Amino acid sequence: MHEAARKTEAGVNGKTEKGLAFPTIRDIELNGKTVLVRADLNVPKHNTQITDHTRIDRLKPTIDFLRENNAKIVVISHFGRPDGEHNPQMSLAFLAAVLEKRWNAPVSFAPDCIGALTKGIIERANLGDIVLLENVRFYKEEEQNDKDFAAKLADLGDIYVNDAFSAAHRAHASTEGIAAYLPAVAGLLMEEELNALSAALVAPQKPVMAFTGGSKISTKLKVLDNLIPKVDFLVLGGAMANTFLFAQGKSVGVSMCESNMAEEARKILDLAQKSGCEIILPRDVVVVRELKENAQHQTVDSAAIPADMSAIDLGPRSVEYICEKLATCHTVLWNGPLGVFEIKPFDKGTNAVAEAVAKRTNARQCVSVAGGGDTVAALENAGAADRFTYISTAGGAFLEWLEGHTLPGVQALLKN
Ligand code: 3PG
Repeated sequence: MHEAARKTEAGVNGKTEKGLAFPTIRDIELNGKTVLVRADLNVPKHNTQITDHTRIDRLKPTIDFLRENNAKIVVISHFGRPDGEHNPQMSLAFLAAVLEKRWNAPVSFAPDCIGALTKGIIERANLGDIVLLENVRFYKEEEQNDKDFAAKLADLGDIYVNDAFSAAHRAHASTEGIAAYLPAVAGLLMEEELNALSAALVAPQKPVMAFTGGSKISTKLKVLDNLIPKVDFLVLGGAMANTFLFAQGKSVGVSMCESNMAEEARKILDLAQKSGCEIILPRDVVVVRELKENAQHQTVDSAAIPADMSAIDLGPRSVEYICEKLATCHTVLWNGPLGVFEIKPFDKGTNAVAEAVAKRTNARQCVSVAGGGDTVAALENAGAADRFTYISTAGGAFLEWLEGHTLPGVQALLKN
């Protein structure tokens, strides 16, 4: 960190996913400074309505802290994937009023994210005010991590704060390149995310149970490879589990299954055995002929899936076995639903296990951390999300972190 910017000799506050220390906004003098905050305002939107405000609300502590410390705040974010083109559909203009309301602070909008016009708007803002810049991905240089573009962004302020863990897997100008030009520190949300994830995987209280669900093992191979040596139990759910059952020589009927990944699945089972990690596959499954709401269904042994039926959820014996093992665990890490939770009643298995984790967390018997787009929706559907210890705001970044990568946006904070 630039010496002039360091506030105290007390050192740094946060630790990365690898246990490395990084500076945060609590380590730097903010009074009278213009602070560039990389936020992730890539919020879900349907027509003109934001369908989930979580990412906005979770940024508020950082915004409040900066305002309390008399800084001027410039918010940088992407929205969607405009591919370097100016696309009015992906303008961030609509968010200024939303931020103003949810952050209870004055927010003005700059219709560009670099240049003299933008600079003028920032200069005219008062300390404590917030200026939201236009979608940084309207410039192709953003995703190219172009040095000149990063320098132009940096030219708008005195300090760079990265509070976008959910975009930290991207080595872009506003998430990585810019950190070379300014004192760079983490925001409170970034710090919270890294501390929570590190508590779950770097220095967890053992035994650890990880849940990995979703449809394809091909997209989760690296996650499985990274998790197996670190966890005691790995529960596999969703269609992914069918591929493992198939790899064990079981018939999976017409279930979704990546038969071409059978060899990879066997390698994973082998690795788990060598690592002392118990892979928990479904013992019984709920099967249907037609996948629709309230479809006729039955529960069968996972070795006896009828030839014309698909497995779409865990059965009660599977849930019971998972819960029995869960009762011995002190850390839970969850990524991916265990069944087709979007179609009722095939959310039952996911719901029952999520409820068990939530109860154990509530009783302070375990720390539970979950992340990834579908995961949060599944836990919310189960009514369990708010009783987990920590729900990450990240989708892709959470997965890349589970794969064991040091994320470029986090790495950039370690340069100081
Ligand atoms: C996300 O929503 O996961 C982040 O905002 C990253 O978006 P991206 O996948 O378009 O980079």
